[in-house]
Amino acid sequence: MIPRFVTLEGGEGVGKSTQLKALAEVLRARGPAVVETREPGGSPGAEAIRSLLLQGDIDRWTGEAEALLFAAARSDHVTRTIKPALDRGQWVLCDRFLDSSIAYQGMVGGLGVEAIRRLHAIGSGGFLPDRTLLLRLDGDEAAARTRRRDADGADRFGARDAAYHAGIAAAFDRLAAEEPERFRVIDAAGEAETVTKRLLAALEDLL
Ligand code: TYD
Repeated sequence: MIPRFVTLEGGEGVGKSTQLKALAEVLRARGPAVVETREPGGSPGAEAIRSLLLQGDIDRWTGEAEALLFAAARSDHVTRTIKPALDRGQWVLCDRFLDSSIAYQGMVGGLGVEAIRRLHAIGSGGFLPDRTLLLRLDGDEAAARTRRRDADGADRFGARDAAYHAGIAAAFDRLAAEEPERFRVIDAAGEAETVTKRLLAALEDLL
């Protein structure tokens, strides 16, 4: 079986991290060893950058500095964690990756898609997932889930308003439409187990 690099994307509150764990379990039952990881973070250096990115005031970084920090974290993560795991024959499931930078910093943040792709070319040689699973949830349901989760204080990104989150959802939809080969759009509504089955079905052709 060829080891695959799979990313989960979507806005806040769509259930990515819960689904990533569940998907890793059902995949392992099918044979491959699976490494679970996340961005920003996923290697010691990138986790250090993660705290710089997620803590502090909403205007702590300029848009440019923020995009560079995400790209720097990703570079370390790809080199130290993702590629070595694939080389060992393991599958890699990652909670967010380049498409989050394109949606958040490139499209909604206004830096532009091409600028983010250039940073990724420099930092990570343009390395892309074999499959990207975009979790989609109606805006109201996602907001309600996020409110429950962040009752004890949201991070720099979660603290933004409904219009911002709608913009993020639209940005992801556009990316998925532009790359139908790599992306699969998954309905994230309903029972967690049902969503996990949908995710696994979207990987069948790679197994
Ligand atoms: P995290 O706590 O992982 O949020 P979530 O549970 O929503 O995935 O925080 C990651 C935040 O960082 C999230 O709000 C999205 C944002 N982000 C970017 O803006 N650009 C990126 O490249 C990545 C990976 C994340």
